[in-house]
Amino acid sequence: MHLRGATALVTGANRDLGRHFAEELLRRGAAKVYAAARRPELVDLPGVEALPLDVTDPASVEAAAAVAGDATLLINNAGVSHGVNLVDGDLAKIRATLDVHLYGTLAMIRAFAPVLGANGGGAILNVLSNLSWLSYDGNNAYAVAKAAEWSLTNGVRLELAGQGTLVSGLVFGPTATETMRAHAGDAVMNDPADIVRAALDGIETGTVEIIADRFGADAKAALSGEPRGFVLETLSRT
Ligand SMILES: NC(=O)c1ccc[n+]([C@@H]2O[C@H](COP(=O)([O-])OP(=O)(O)OC[C@H]3O[C@@H](n4cnc5c(N)ncnc54)[C@H](OP(=O)(O)O)[C@@H]3O)[C@@H](O)[C@H]2O)c1
Repeated sequence: MHLRGATALVTGANRDLGRHFAEELLRRGAAKVYAAARRPELVDLPGVEALPLDVTDPASVEAAAAVAGDATLLINNAGVSHGVNLVDGDLAKIRATLDVHLYGTLAMIRAFAPVLGANGGGAILNVLSNLSWLSYDGNNAYAVAKAAEWSLTNGVRLELAGQGTLVSGLVFGPTATETMRAHAGDAVMNDPADIVRAALDGIETGTVEIIADRFGADAKAALSGEPRGFVLETLSRT
């Protein structure tokens, strides 16, 4: 898909990876970028159209689809990470994690599939994780949500093939955003700008599974062996 002239909507675009996506899309010549955010007043990037959106609120999702009827690219970036395990973690937090990553992404896709179809097919990029393929003791609810989002990505790809919509997943590991810095301190992590460039290169070349770093590649390779977990503490420190 050509990004020059595209009309993109990025969820969670007020900060971190979402803001980087919006910025890079403008740099690549997108005609319009809807920077969707729970608090659109926090969108500070010149040249984008701020749009209110909470992906867990069906009315909010429907309202966004009504406004962004010209969208040709949907980037499901919004995410939460509550740091909860499955056996003894707060069940409300486990559900909240699935609400954003699984049901929120699904709600956006259901609302925007007809929009993309009417606009010639377009593309959907779901921002997944190396934890789509690895467990992570301490944040296993997030790993479950990202695994579900990976399967959702693959299912939706089949369902939307007929209308010509490219459905891609982006797989990568620890990246220096506000949330990850709070979690991982001074660990050496990806630069968010590098991940976003790799992701948009993948959309431009029609890649369905975009593996943007060595963490993604390692997790994919590990699938052929015994299931294992990711250990953040093994990252090197600055
Ligand atoms: N950073 C990493 O190491 C890493 C690695 C692999 C995958 N990922 C994935 O990459 C994506 C972005 O990560 P990030 O590190 O940039 O996250 P982040 O810094 O925590 O930012 C998350 C964004 O999602 C928004 N958001 C949360 N819940 C939402 C909702 N219900 N509706 C709409 N927006 C909502 C947040 O809005 P508020 O500002 O209102 O909270 C914020 O804009 C996520 O899907 C994450 O799982 C991240």
